[in-house]
Amino acid sequence: MASFQTVKGFRDFFPQECALRNYITETWRSVARRYGFVEYEAPLLEETNLYRKKSGDEITNQLFCFRDKAEREISLRPEVTPSLARMVAEKQRDFKKPIKWFQIGPCFRYEVPQKGRGREFIQFNADILGDSSSAPSAELIALAIDVLREFGICTPEDFIIRLSNREIWNIFLADKKIAEEHTTTFLSIIDKIERASAEETEKKLSVIGLTLAEVRDFMASTNENHPAFAELRENLTARGLWKFVEIDATIVRGLAYYTGVVFEVFDKKHGLRALAGGGSYDKLCALISDGTVDLPAAGFAMGDVVLGILLEQTPSAQMKLTSAYLAASSIDAFVVVADEAQRPHALAAIQALRAAGIRADYSFGPQKVGKQFQAAEDRKARFAIVFGAEYPEVVIKNLLARSQSAVPVDGLVAEVQKLLAEPAIGPLIA
Ligand code: HAM
Repeated sequence: MASFQTVKGFRDFFPQECALRNYITETWRSVARRYGFVEYEAPLLEETNLYRKKSGDEITNQLFCFRDKAEREISLRPEVTPSLARMVAEKQRDFKKPIKWFQIGPCFRYEVPQKGRGREFIQFNADILGDSSSAPSAELIALAIDVLREFGICTPEDFIIRLSNREIWNIFLADKKIAEEHTTTFLSIIDKIERASAEETEKKLSVIGLTLAEVRDFMASTNENHPAFAELRENLTARGLWKFVEIDATIVRGLAYYTGVVFEVFDKKHGLRALAGGGSYDKLCALISDGTVDLPAAGFAMGDVVLGILLEQTPSAQMKLTSAYLAASSIDAFVVVADEAQRPHALAAIQALRAAGIRADYSFGPQKVGKQFQAAEDRKARFAIVFGAEYPEVVIKNLLARSQSAVPVDGLVAEVQKLLAEPAIGPLIA
């Protein structure tokens, strides 16, 4: 074993993990663009104060924070939303509203590493700023659904959007004449209600003058007919997506800045932790800019860790995943130098193939022809191109179809391009 190991909760990305990461991030990027979102990026380090109060206790307790050489308090970003609010508040006049932006990059939280949770993970953030209607929330929920469908996680039997609205709890608390100062405590009790014991919850609720029974009654009576969900329901029904949504009043989200709509995305078959979460946060820009910029906003983030576990476990997602793994490590052509006298010609051809965008590789030094063919198979090359004594004629062997043809070297690139455009037929695809 090596004497050094990764820092607890951090990951090595060997080629297989890199292939998974790239497949995930490329899919996120392509679906976000299809929805008209534009990519941005924020710094990995921010002043710790950006997260204090704005994100809430749960995240500030998980900060990777330190003092830099000038004694500034700095944190690795645990999420991107406060940075986004800071950036938009600073330059919002430069951008037409609504702003539809997405971001993909690592985040860091000092959590207890466990299944689905690490200390470093990659997030995909999608946010819409500058429109106060419910249309942005509908657009974001549709995007979250389409991202999962793009991965091959397709039906309401596979995953569900659990939707709620913090406003309904505000109304509940006002009806019960509970002072506003208790709202944060109350929401954190609701956030944990499914994990905590009934006695524990009852005790905490009694401190602010409520009983578990009245809270449970209210939750049971909250369904999709509640007026708080009417617009979202109409919008998502028109898109044929309401079937993915379930109203769940226990969803309030751990982060402090949410103001209205809140949602989380869960798989339905494997009992994994949340795949994604988000909601509207209409006051965060004002809070971060000391009231100078007041922009309504909504967004969500999806992490790569739970998603990666789910992709590996979902049969309908595996075909795309397998071809992503294959594409990441395979090549188009392996050049076999059967006659060492031809190596300079082979090198020239390899460069010409690569210049034409063909993924080509070869053995660095003299090797038995059989070994070179084995290397071609190991690299999952579609073609082996043999440079032998017949040069300037070269032989193209189709390693999948087990057929071959001979071409003059001048026509090699064009011929390989033509062959690559044909569908691959052979045992790898069967
Ligand atoms: P969040 O629910 O804290 O929301 O995180 C979103 C997603 O990031 C989670 O559903 C999960 O997939 C992933 N995630 C969070 N922590 C970890 C971890 N320790 N290990 C692995 N994955 C993790 C936010 O971060 C909000 N800023 C989302 C947002 C964007 N709201 C508005 N815009």
